[in-house]
Amino acid sequence: MFKGVLFDLDGVITDTAEYHYLAWKKLADKLDISIDRQFNEQLKGVSREDSLKLILAHGNRSNDFTEAEFQALAKEKNDNYVEMIQSVSPTDVYPGILELLKDLKKADIKISLASASKNGPFLLEQMALSSYFDGIADPAEIAQGKPAPDIFLLAAKIVGLDAAECIGIEDAQAGIAAIKASGAQPIGVGDVKHLGTDIPLVAKTDQLTIDFLKKCWQ
Ligand code: BG6
Ligand code: MG
Repeated sequence: MFKGVLFDLDGVITDTAEYHYLAWKKLADKLDISIDRQFNEQLKGVSREDSLKLILAHGNRSNDFTEAEFQALAKEKNDNYVEMIQSVSPTDVYPGILELLKDLKKADIKISLASASKNGPFLLEQMALSSYFDGIADPAEIAQGKPAPDIFLLAAKIVGLDAAECIGIEDAQAGIAAIKASGAQPIGVGDVKHLGTDIPLVAKTDQLTIDFLKKCWQ
C-alpha cells in the first residue's frame, strides 16, 4: 500500500488554476502578447518566473526587459492573483477532496503538499484545510521547478517517506512529468488530450476516492 499522497493544489484541490490563467492573461494583454487556454496548458504547474519567461518568449519579447523590469512584471501578476484569491473559502474546495483527505487521515496515510505556488499555505488556510496536511513543501527550497521532480521529492521527504512510497495527484503536464521523474505514482485530473493515456486519469475530483487510489496503486 502507498504510505503518502502528494497533492498539487491549483487545479486539483480548488479552481485557482483559472485565476492564474486570468492573471497571466491580464499581464500578457498589457504587453500585447496574445495567449489563450491552449497556450496556458504549458504554464500549468510551472513557477511564476518560468511562466513569465514562456509568455515573453511566445511574444518574441524575451530580450525587452531588464532583470528589475522582469521582476516587476512577475510581481504585477502575483499582486493581481493575490487580489483574486482573497475570497477563496471552504466552499471552493473541489468535490470529493475533503472526503479524500479525511479518509487518508483515518487510514494513517501521510498527506503532503507539492505545489509550485508560494501562495499555497495561504490558500490552504482560506479553505480550512491546513490541519489535514502533514507537510507543505516550500517551493523556495528547491533547485528546479516542475517538470523536474524536486518538489515531489521534497514533499515526500518532509513527511518521512520516499517518493516511491507515494501517489502524486496533478492536473498539469509539467506536474505529471515531475511525479514520474520522482518515482511516485501519478494520477491525473483532466483529460486524455492534455494528460495522455499512460496514467490513470479522473475527469472530476469526486472520482478521487481512497478506493480509487488503492486500485491505481500497483
Ligand atoms: C502552480 C500553478 O501551482 O504554481 C502555476 O499551477 C503557478 O500556474 C505556480 O505559476 C507558481 O505560483 P505562485 O502563486 O507562486 O506564483
Ligand atoms: Mg495544478
